[in-house]
Amino acid sequence: MNINVNKSKETILVTGGTGFIGSHTVVLLIENGYNVCILDNLSNSKIQVLDRIRTITNLDKNDERLKFYKGDILDKIILNKIFKENKIFGVIHFAGLKAVGESCIIPLKYYDNNISGTVNLLEVMKENNVKNIIFSSSATVYGEQSVQPIKEDAKLNEPTNPYGKTKLFIEYILKDLYSSDNTWNIVLLRYFNPIGAHKSGLIGEDPNGIPNNLMPYVTQVAIGKRSHLNVFGNDYDTPDGTGVRDYIHVCDLARGHVYALGRLFGNHGLDIYNLGTGHGYSVLDIVKTFSKVNNINIPYEITSRRSGDIATCYADPSKAYQEMGFKCELTLEDMCRDSWNYQKKNPNGIE
Ligand code: WQD
Repeated sequence: MNINVNKSKETILVTGGTGFIGSHTVVLLIENGYNVCILDNLSNSKIQVLDRIRTITNLDKNDERLKFYKGDILDKIILNKIFKENKIFGVIHFAGLKAVGESCIIPLKYYDNNISGTVNLLEVMKENNVKNIIFSSSATVYGEQSVQPIKEDAKLNEPTNPYGKTKLFIEYILKDLYSSDNTWNIVLLRYFNPIGAHKSGLIGEDPNGIPNNLMPYVTQVAIGKRSHLNVFGNDYDTPDGTGVRDYIHVCDLARGHVYALGRLFGNHGLDIYNLGTGHGYSVLDIVKTFSKVNNINIPYEITSRRSGDIATCYADPSKAYQEMGFKCELTLEDMCRDSWNYQKKNPNGIE
């Protein structure tokens, strides 16, 4: 499915491109005719993902349409090397630490890596006169919202953890950058809850250690790696008492980035979009749907709430549709089926 065929052949720098969302986006960029440079320090992903991207996109090892640079957004030397060696049209910036709980334990590492790293990237972009960037933001910047679904112009309440605050602060940095120089083209994409995997089962969510997020924990229960799921509270003000979120298939999310490139080409300045389905599903909805679709029982226990969790969070996705023509196509059943297909093919994660 070719979305921006008239603008492909451009080269996109994807930071964090071997990660969960990054890898799925790289696949779609290549399939849509873009050249891709990945910069990744492999702190939360594996080099094997590169070969899997090549398998999915039928690229051989030496094909210049996909280049990999191992390194860190805090390293100006490697960033300048990339911009010197490649004619970069724009950057899709995924690289960042993203574990909510861990961010409460080592906040300084999160502020240094995510914020200083992003400032570093922006400075090198400016020095190389590349002023097109799509930033991987998050619904976490909304904090607790009384009105649901959430629109982009909602008042941003304080995120409940340092990870979420880094996303919010980076949004402020990009807004100030645009105010200082409106020749920048910036798209902030606020992801809701990405789950699922590429239909090949070659790439997917591959967390280190005990999964923080719901779906990878469910698939590890399904494969027998975990005995049961702990449901973090059933006393929220929601239909069945468990937390409600807007789960979006990672392949829909990836497609949203290709649509957002179209906004960059159009020199629209700074845009902000929710990427979500507009539907809220509870934890028990996920468990029931996963069990039904995959015919697997998922034992669970209700435990106390997880600190920092909110009751309900789901998107009003209409702005992305009105301005980019983007809307989600994959269902919760697709998300559950594809997550399980990936876990079955990678019982111990990507090796
Ligand atoms: C979803 C629901 C939990 C695990 C966070 C970040 C967001 C993004 C995605 C990074 C909640 C419940 C979970 C478990 C459970 N971050 N749950 N048992 O917290 O909505 O969002 O991850 O990419 O920015 O804020 O996602 O998957 O952790 O939780 O009951 O073992 O599942 O309470 O209601 P969350 P999640």
